[in-house]
Amino acid sequence: MATNPRYIWMDGELKDSAQGNIPFLNAGLHYGFSVFEGIRCYATERGPAVFRLQEHVERLLDSAHIIGFRDLPFTRDTVVDAIHQTIAANRFSACYIRPLIYLDGAMNMVLDSGKPRLVIAVWEWGNFLGPEAKERGVRANVASYTRLHPNITMTKAKVSGNYVNSILAKTESLRTGFDEAIMLDPAGYVAECTGENIFVVRDKVICTVPRGAILEGITRDSLITLARDLGYSVVEEPISRDQLYISDEVFVCGTAAEVIGLREIDFRMIGNGKTGPVARSLQDAFENVTTGKHARSATWLSYVPVAALSSAKG
Ligand SMILES: Cc1ncc(COP(=O)(O)O)c(C=O)c1O
Repeated sequence: MATNPRYIWMDGELKDSAQGNIPFLNAGLHYGFSVFEGIRCYATERGPAVFRLQEHVERLLDSAHIIGFRDLPFTRDTVVDAIHQTIAANRFSACYIRPLIYLDGAMNMVLDSGKPRLVIAVWEWGNFLGPEAKERGVRANVASYTRLHPNITMTKAKVSGNYVNSILAKTESLRTGFDEAIMLDPAGYVAECTGENIFVVRDKVICTVPRGAILEGITRDSLITLARDLGYSVVEEPISRDQLYISDEVFVCGTAAEVIGLREIDFRMIGNGKTGPVARSLQDAFENVTTGKHARSATWLSYVPVAALSSAKG
C-alpha cells in the first residue's frame, strides 16, 4: 500500500503535492520523453538513509545526457540536497524516491525547443512483488515480447518511454497468472526482467548477464560486491532460457523489488521451489547494508542530514 507525500520538489522548491501540476501539453507526457530514477530510503538507527544516492543521481544525469538534454538547470549536488529535503519534509523514515526530468514547453519532438525540469516525489512503498515474495519467491514466465535493442532506444538510460516495453511484458505476465516477466534480448539470450536484473546459481557459482544492453542496476552491482565479500564466485556471462530452467537458483534484484527468488519459471520448478540459500544470504546481507548494520553501509548509505530533518516543513 503506497502512502502519498504531502510535499513534492518542483522548480527548485518544495510544494504542496496538490499544487505540483504539470501542463497537459508537454512532450514528456505525450512522447515518453522523460528520464527518471527509482531510489530507496531506509529506516536506520541514525535516521532515514538513502541507498547509493550518489550512484542513482549519477545515473539520472547520465540518462539525461544519453537522450540529449543540454544545460540542465541544476547540479548533482542540488539533486542530492533536494532529495534529502523532500524526504525530511514528508517525515518518512523509509520511502521510495522518484526524481524525474521532463521536457517542458515543447509540444513537438524537438528536444531543444523545450526546457528540462526536475520533479522529485517520495512515497512509502513496500516490496514491489508483494509481501510474501521475499520468503516464498515468485513465479515468472519468459515474455513473448523482446527486450529493447540498444540501437532502437537507449537501454542504459531510464527513459520513461522504454517502460512501455516493460509494461507490455508485465501485463502479459500478470494476466497469464505469473508474477514477473523475464525478457530475452534480440539474439534470444536472457536480458533482464521488467524492472529487475537477473542472476542464476549453478554448482555454487553465481552468474549474471553481462552489462551489454541491460540497464546497469545499482542493486545488481551491490549484490556482485556483497556476493564476493561472502566468498562466492561471480561471473558475467550470457544466459540462455534453458539455463534458467536447470539452475539451482534464480533470483532477481532491483531497487523496487530488492532481492527476490524465482521459485518457478514457465511452469518448471527452479531448484527446490523456494528462495534458495544463496539468494537468502544475499537478502540478509542486503538488508544489513541498507539498515546501517554492515561494513559497507558507511559508504553506501547517505543519511538525511539532521539540519534537513529539523527544518522540515509541516
Ligand atoms: C529494466 C530494469 N532493469 C534493472 C533494474 C534494476 O536497477 P536498480 O537496481 O538500479 O534499481 C531496473 C530498475 O530500475 C529496471 O527498470
